[in-house]
Order: sequence, then C-alpha cells, then structure tokens
Amino acid sequence: MTGTLDLVKTKGLKKSEINQLNRLLQKRLPPDRILTIDLAEAVAEISYQLRQPISLVANRRGQIVNVTLGQPWQINTPELRQVRVGPGRLCGHRVIYTRLAKSEKQAAKNGNKGNGNNGNGNNGHSVNKDNLMALAKNRLDLLAQVNVNTDGSFSRSHGEQSHLADSIEIIHLLPGRDSEGKLWKQMPACTVRMAQEEDFTALIEALEEEFQKQIPELPVRAGEERAILVGVITGDMDAWEMEDDLDELAQLARTAGATICRRFTQTRREPDPSFFLGAGKAQELALLVQELGANLVILDHELTALQHNSLQKIVGVKVLDRTELILDIFAQRAHTREGKLQVELAQLKYLMPRLIGKGTMLSRLGGGIGTRGPGETKLEIDRRRIRQRINRLEDDIVRIKNYRDTQRRMRNENHLPVIAISGYTNSGKSTLLNALTKANVFVEDKLFATLDPTTRKTTLPDHSTVLLCDTVGFIKKLPTPLVAAFRATLEEVAIANIILHVVDASHPHALDQINSVYDVLSELGAIDKPIITVLNKSELVRKEDLLWLISQVPNPVVISALKRLGFPSLMKKIQDMVEEVFPERAAAVTTKIMA
Ligand code: GTP
Repeated sequence: MTGTLDLVKTKGLKKSEINQLNRLLQKRLPPDRILTIDLAEAVAEISYQLRQPISLVANRRGQIVNVTLGQPWQINTPELRQVRVGPGRLCGHRVIYTRLAKSEKQAAKNGNKGNGNNGNGNNGHSVNKDNLMALAKNRLDLLAQVNVNTDGSFSRSHGEQSHLADSIEIIHLLPGRDSEGKLWKQMPACTVRMAQEEDFTALIEALEEEFQKQIPELPVRAGEERAILVGVITGDMDAWEMEDDLDELAQLARTAGATICRRFTQTRREPDPSFFLGAGKAQELALLVQELGANLVILDHELTALQHNSLQKIVGVKVLDRTELILDIFAQRAHTREGKLQVELAQLKYLMPRLIGKGTMLSRLGGGIGTRGPGETKLEIDRRRIRQRINRLEDDIVRIKNYRDTQRRMRNENHLPVIAISGYTNSGKSTLLNALTKANVFVEDKLFATLDPTTRKTTLPDHSTVLLCDTVGFIKKLPTPLVAAFRATLEEVAIANIILHVVDASHPHALDQINSVYDVLSELGAIDKPIITVLNKSELVRKEDLLWLISQVPNPVVISALKRLGFPSLMKKIQDMVEEVFPERAAAVTTKIMA
C-alpha cells in the first residue's frame, strides 16, 4: 500500500473502521474513469456509518494516494502540497468525496467553518466554498462530490443492492472566468452510473488544451519566477502613489530576474496583523496565483514573521517582501569579499527576528529569488549559530572599516580632495565615473548594478587631481539592515569632501528620488556637505522640464553621461567647489601655474 490515511477527526474510531478506511487505499480506478460505482458505494457506505465526510485523492493512474476523514479543504497530503503546477496544467490529482446532507446542516447550525453555499443557482447540491477554494488553489483535476443518501430512503426494491451513493456532482476549473466571474464549473448532478461512464482522460485533455490556449502570451520557461506584485494602500496614500511604488517594485523584481504577471492592490485603513491584506483579499490572491500560474508573490512592504508565514500558507507559493527582494538583488550583485560580507550580514540580521515558525520553510527553500546570496547555505543553521555568525561578520566588517580608514588617511596625506558620486540607483553614476576616468565600472540598465565602491583619480581643468568615488545607489525605503550593513561602504559618502549627486533628470519622479537621496544622506550625517546636483540623461528631457528641475536643486549642472555632454561645465563646477572647500589649495595651484 503506497497511499496515506489521514484521520482529521480521529476521535473514537474503532480498529475495524480504520481498517475499512485503509481498504479504500487499495482500490484502483481505471485510468480513464472519474470513479466507479464500486468505489462510490464503498466510500459512501463508510462515510454513512461514521457520519463523517471522507475524501479520496486519486492520481491519473487511478491509484488512491490519500484517504482523509474530512472534506477536500482539510486534505493535507504531500501529493497536493508539493505540486508546482505551471499555467495551462492541472495538478494530476482529483478528489472524490462524500457529502452527507444532514451532517452538513448540523454543522452549519453549529456554526462550523466551511459550509457556505456557493450560490451557483445550480439545481444540484450546494458545494462547500472551502472545497471550491481547495479545487482552485491546488489546481485539482476535478472534484467529484458523492451525495450520500442519509435519510434512509435509499431503495432496496426490485431486489437491487442499496444505493447509498445517491448522485454525483462534478466540479472542474474553467480556463479563465465565466460571465459571473467564477473560476469553476459545476456540472448538473448525475447518477453514479452516468458519472462512471464519463471519459475522464478526454475531459482532462480538453480542459488542459483550453487552459493552454488562454496563456499564449505567457509562455513558461523552466525555472522562471512569475511574480504577482502586491501593494496595500493605507493612510493618506492614493492609488497613483501606489502605482508609482509598484513601478519601482516591478523594476526591482525584474532586476532580480522575475517576470511580472499581475499587480494586485487593496485599500485598507491599516495592514491586517495576520495576512497584511484582509483575509478575504488574501484568498482572492491565492486564486489569482493559480489562475495565472504565478510562483512568487512580492509585497511592496515589510512583513512581520506572522504575516509572512500566514500569507505564504494561504497563497501556497513563495512570498517575498520588499526588503527580501532588495537583499536578493544585493546578494546577486556583491562581487567583492567586502560586498559579500555586508550582504550576508544584512540577510542574517533581517532573518533573525523572523526565524520563529520558519524552521521548515528555511530547509524548503530550493533556490530562486529571496534564497540567493552568500548566506544561502547557512540559512539552515539555528538561531544561536546565526548570532555567532553575525558577530563574526561584524568583526570582519570592523576590520574592513579599519582598512578603509587607513586608506583614507593615506589619501588625506596626499591631500587629494575626495568627491563621492552618489544618487538614486540607475541614475547613471557608474556611466559618469567611467566617462570621467575610464574606470570600467559595470554599467547596466538595472537597479543596483554597482555595490562595491570604486575610487579613481581624475584631473580638473587646472590640472589638479581629485579622487572620484562611485558608491552604492540609494532607493526609497532602503532597508534599515542594509544601511546598517553597508555603513562601511556608504561612509565613503560621509567622509567625502564634496558630493556629486547624480539625478536621472528624465525620471518622472526625479524630485522624489532626489528627496530619498537626501533622506539617506541625512541618515549618514552627510547632508551638510557641499553638494553638486548633476542632472543626468538630459538629452531625454524637455527644456522646460529641465529648467524647472534646475530651479529646485542646489548647484545644478546639466549633463548627459552617455552622450558625454556638459562635461566641461561639470569639471569647472567641481573645480570651483574644490577651491571653495580648499582655499589654500587653490592658491597653491595658482602659484604653480604662474610659476
Ligand atoms: P546603480 O549601480 O544601480 O546605482 O546604477 P548607476 O547609477 O551606477 O547607473 P548606471 O551608470 O549603471 O546607468 C544606468 C543606466 O542608465 C544604464 O543603462 C546607462 O546606460 C544609462 N545612462 C547613464 N547615463 C545616461 C545618459 O546620460 N543618458 C541616457 N539616455 N542613459 C544613461
């Protein structure tokens, strides 16, 4: 016997009854039949005796792989849990279950969970709403509800055997939604004999063919991460702001390698403590996940451990919050030892308070977004060892900081002014550094292309030398553990003499990005440094928009790092600022030139 027996309601069962249930596991169905009269009768009979619903999970080979004393939504078998079904496919398992009209009425009277009417206007028996959810969430091949005759009126007339299995209702998923927005179709109730004659294989093939047709524009690649982005509009926020935030989240998700299949938003006064979304909305999200074949849900917020776990449980696929997504990108982008140490530290610090209840989840993490990084293999270690590791990393980072301080001191001895290129991610910092110094820094139209600071010399028009340092890009709501972990890197900005604040002037929210950079600069204690605002990507911006931006920022210079436009003005501006910050140096240069 290969299947499992799950006694959801275990109390008071006799050994003989357990044996009877176990015998159901030995039944075999012809692969092309939904069920047989023999099986329907057998399950109806035990269900009637026990006065409890029974669910059987059958695979496409006709084996019964699980028997659960309970309803389909109560099934908890690995066959259903571990299935990752792509769009256009069903999970390869169907559930045949009994419905005892009287016991359900009783349960409804007692206020039991999960006895809602689906209100489908069908003449057949009602199908429990939670069971329909189980159908959609697990992408079951179908549900076959065996209506058990409980009123004692089943016939023994005409010398026939008793028929406890009164009628059958078949419910299957629909490709897309019907005109009432339902994801499933309940076929009219039929006799058990008629249900036995249904060609199961033909039905499933036809359904899967329809499902495939629904998604021609969404071909699934092996290993692809198909994400639904989720935003909750709370407080004073309006829907447009949320859309802007989701635009950025989409860019982050694409940078991490995901394909975006849908955005999903909800307006609430405040986030739900259990699911972040409302419970009903979370169910809706679970259905959408199945409908679109998504395997990743990304929230534009930071979740608590409880919200994370309960939402992941309900949607059935991996859930990431904004911080985890950013940490993942940082993990992919860290190339130097220093960068790797800092990302690992940030990951572990983020993970620590969220360890509760994550034990099994951590060992389940197979790969993909949110699981990468230098810390990846260490994620299965326990809390104590994580703490030890954090201590070690912090020591290493202090050593790096000391090394950096020494380097800086040496720089200071050379009396070279240090100019930090900082700005929002993707604003063109590395392109500018490359153009000015031929530093060959990695440039890509994705967020956080540069993680490791690069310092290069460049010469000003007066032939004096300055050091230019490219730094990690900033972003709105930069996760606190990241700022903490990257302090050593970010401090390059704090110790610089002048800040070149590079702005993507073509971005529709350039001013918001400027303000986010100011926030991080304040956090680093660098906001009072002299700042030159470099309005980059100017070739993409209308003149009047540029003029407006110029009026909003300190010390503006308009350039295009890509087209190498505006560099002389920029160099002149830097030189003027250096002279202002180092007046004695200016005098020395003048003397040298005159001599
Ligand atoms: P992070 O490392 O993510 O912080 O990015 P960054 O600020 O270093 O930006 P990067 O230099 O990597 O450039 C990001 C994208 O903007 C790249 O595709 C560049 O080619 C593009 N880019 C940079 N400067 C310009 C410009 O002046 N005009 C245009 N059109 N594109 C530019």
